[in-house]
Amino acid sequence: MQDEQLIQDILESVIKAVDIPVTLKMRTGWDVSHKNAQTIAQIAQKSGIQMLSIHGRTKEDKYKVEAEYHTIKDVVRQVNIPVIANGDVASADKAKKILEYTGASGVMVGRATQGSPWLIHEIDHFLKTGQHAQNHPA
Ligand SMILES: Cc1cc2nc3c(=O)[nH]c(=O)nc-3n(C[C@H](O)[C@H](O)[C@H](O)COP(=O)(O)O)c2cc1C
Repeated sequence: MQDEQLIQDILESVIKAVDIPVTLKMRTGWDVSHKNAQTIAQIAQKSGIQMLSIHGRTKEDKYKVEAEYHTIKDVVRQVNIPVIANGDVASADKAKKILEYTGASGVMVGRATQGSPWLIHEIDHFLKTGQHAQNHPA
């Protein structure tokens, strides 16, 4: 994320090389002083990327701070391609709140599914029905 020209070159090369949709996943930036997800999102859209997933932390954050979603919200407003919100999605309630706050097209769940793979069903059920799933499949 420190070299935006290199990102553009890579994206254009990959998109040119394949005949399937290419998507991009990124963090919000290199560190808190260099959050360039919005710029990269523009580059990605212009290059032909068809969907973005954004993890709401910087590279330097590692996993030390909580994910933030306002950067994701800003990107959603700026691009026309679907944006998926990622980072600390650990419950159906939180998934719904993040979707409402960011306007993202979906959420991506990482660590919270480790040991709880039924979380995906719980989120899906809650988003579709507004009701919490009574029984998880395990
Ligand atoms: C064990 C592990 C492996 C991961 N592997 C990848 C990967 O191959 N590609 C990727 O884009 N992100 C990878 N991630 C990052 C997650 O996809 C996700 O962006 C990040 O964990 C934040 O989401 P979470 O808070 O829901 O875990 C990995 C994370 C973990 C914990």
